[in-house]
Amino acid sequence: MEKLQYDIKKRTHKVELPKELGFGKLFTDHFFEMDYSPEKGWYNPIIKHVENLSIHPGSMFIHYGQAIFEGLKAFKTEDGRVTIFRPQAHIKRLNNSAKRICIPKVDEEFLLHALTELVSIESDWIPTDPGESLYIRPVIYGADPFLGVKPSSNYKLFILLSPVGAYYTEGFKPVKILVQDDYVRAVRKGLGECKTPANYAASLLAAKEAKEKGFTQVLWLDGIEQKYLEEVGTMNIFVEFKDEIVTPELSGSILPGVTRRSVIQILKDKGLNISERLISIEEVVDAYNNGSLVSLFGTGTAAVISPIGWLSYKGTEMTFNNGQPSKLAQELFTELNSIHTLKIEDKYDWIVEVNNEEIEV
Ligand code: COI
Repeated sequence: MEKLQYDIKKRTHKVELPKELGFGKLFTDHFFEMDYSPEKGWYNPIIKHVENLSIHPGSMFIHYGQAIFEGLKAFKTEDGRVTIFRPQAHIKRLNNSAKRICIPKVDEEFLLHALTELVSIESDWIPTDPGESLYIRPVIYGADPFLGVKPSSNYKLFILLSPVGAYYTEGFKPVKILVQDDYVRAVRKGLGECKTPANYAASLLAAKEAKEKGFTQVLWLDGIEQKYLEEVGTMNIFVEFKDEIVTPELSGSILPGVTRRSVIQILKDKGLNISERLISIEEVVDAYNNGSLVSLFGTGTAAVISPIGWLSYKGTEMTFNNGQPSKLAQELFTELNSIHTLKIEDKYDWIVEVNNEEIEV
């Protein structure tokens, strides 16, 4: 790998963040980019001022969607240290997504180095109010100008940073979810486990229609029978029964979430009965009716934990825990946020601390 280059513009003003950040509306000054060609491999790695990308209208990703991305977060601790949550797991997943749609792998150690350098340079942009963070968005796309359907030969990778608040306007407040059986997000052996824009494009109409009916998002059922729970909005889903916590097993159509994996680990260590298995929507409705269902919640990098207060399925309206977060969802949210900002010990070694000293470039 070539050495990382820097073309940094010294900041002449103090970073002023708005009070209400929202999600993904604001970007920092600098980003990372590098290119790939079959001859050179990944080359020209550079951190530079954010600029528009020059994209040929024939670029293959625009036509055939050969692109992947990741989403991870950096935080600031109370004493000003900078942390990133499980960057190695996200970079590994980026490479798994790359394999599925014929994108060349990246050197994981190098990408971690580039990512931590970028976060360090932009650390003044990390917001510090509860629930806020710096969202890190790595993307790779096929860049050849060519209209035949085949994998691109050349690629661009970039990492963009965005200071964010809560993903949903509800924040940690429970969301209202419509069980979706008119559309599916993904099918087994398809692209569901790959973090590729196609899965998000597939979700838009269902989410729009649900919003128009007053719901926050949809709960996705499996692509074959529309019988088993898959995901909720852009998140993994957990169901809290009285004597068991269940999340759908990774069947190939579900994104292997990093927060999902972290929550499973935390629950196991609490000695709770956590299973990864198929859960049918009928099982959820039956458990609701016989009083053995406590609550449901989503997990994802953007929202962390998103309690589900209400669920609507074929005219059955379910309310969980009086529309309040369950005790468990609240505990998980607090525990994850405390790990992010090192308020509690990072006993799992999930945090990578970033050198927050001024970088000499
Ligand atoms: C995440 O939770 O990181 C997601 O993937 C949601 C994102 C598409 C906004």
